[in-house]
Amino acid sequence: MHQIKLADNIYYLGFNDRRTHLFENIWPIPNGVSYNSYLITDEKIALVDTVEKQFIDDYLERIDGIIGEKPVDYLIINHMEPDHSGAVKAIRKRYPEIVIIGNRKTFGIIESFSISAENMIVVDDNDILDLGKRKLQFQTIPMVHWPETMVTYEESNKILFSGDAFGSYGTLDGGVFDDEINLEFYETDVMRYFTNIVGKYCAHTQRAMKKLAPLDIKMIAATHGPIWRSDLNWVLSRYSKWSSYEMENGVVIVYGSMYGNTQKMAEVIARQLSERGIRNIRVYDSSKTHLSYIINDIFRYKGFIAGSCAYNNSLFPNIETLLSTIEHMGIKNHYLGIFGTYLWSGGGVSNLKKFAENIKWELVYEPVEEQGSLKRDKFKLCVELANSMSDKLLGN
Ligand code: FEO
Repeated sequence: MHQIKLADNIYYLGFNDRRTHLFENIWPIPNGVSYNSYLITDEKIALVDTVEKQFIDDYLERIDGIIGEKPVDYLIINHMEPDHSGAVKAIRKRYPEIVIIGNRKTFGIIESFSISAENMIVVDDNDILDLGKRKLQFQTIPMVHWPETMVTYEESNKILFSGDAFGSYGTLDGGVFDDEINLEFYETDVMRYFTNIVGKYCAHTQRAMKKLAPLDIKMIAATHGPIWRSDLNWVLSRYSKWSSYEMENGVVIVYGSMYGNTQKMAEVIARQLSERGIRNIRVYDSSKTHLSYIINDIFRYKGFIAGSCAYNNSLFPNIETLLSTIEHMGIKNHYLGIFGTYLWSGGGVSNLKKFAENIKWELVYEPVEEQGSLKRDKFKLCVELANSMSDKLLGN
């Protein structure tokens, strides 16, 4: 294997996963994902995070290939989620004297994963670990995106080992650093990683970025995706924008429709938005498009219009899942429209109204509900809904 260095004696030890279909067993990763660990060889040797357990054998071999029979002295755990802590037990077995570095909250989680909490050092903000020529500084960034999350800052080369923050879906196909790859390939995966995984914790992300701002950072080495060294602003500006809900003028329309009546309402609304000058319009059938992608576009566009038929006196199930995920993530600051259909009893639009009450986004127009197929009166109301949405977005 090539030895990939971030700087003298600082090695990239990442693995590409092209087999897993769903990250966290929820989120589709058609482009795969990388699990990034790092090795620092100084007078003392330190690992920063580990990898997912399917890579343990190759991981240990790669470490051996760099340090031979020398022991690893420290394992720094920035984040305990199993995609990064999967090899902790194996590392401990291979290096029985290793000292684990984590913060107070790390250790409760370690024990809950049945990993012994012996031989550990608890660090807090601004604490320093001296490796010899290099010093490592620690900063906690809670809830980005677990409570124990922290970052490790290598002072000599000004490298921030950032855990999941600034990470991405997508394997590293040859290129590892941002200047070695075409970032267009990663644009959506970086955003989808943020919105899917970190999106619930936008306020925490803002706090973390503020806390880390005084550090002079020349490189960001996350636990997934590219290492940022040439244009840090590419990812920092995006995180800043997304975590502050800075959105574009556009509308996501998503519907649940069994036989096409609710879909027809969506098409009318979409066309009218276009007639009124809205150029970013994404229409999704909730039965076809995974909510991972829909949520991504909800973070991108300010307008959201949801439609549901009545299904067993309630919402269409995929719409119910999407809306409860939006509520759970606490996504903010959207304009909202709702519509739907029923035949013999309601349940679709009535539950969309409950969603509107809970989420507290601005409802731009009265709910539009049709019985059966779309007819002239409700057609007009769909047009009016679209007009109200476009007026809001365009500031008319
Ligand atoms: Fe990549 Fe939160 O684990």
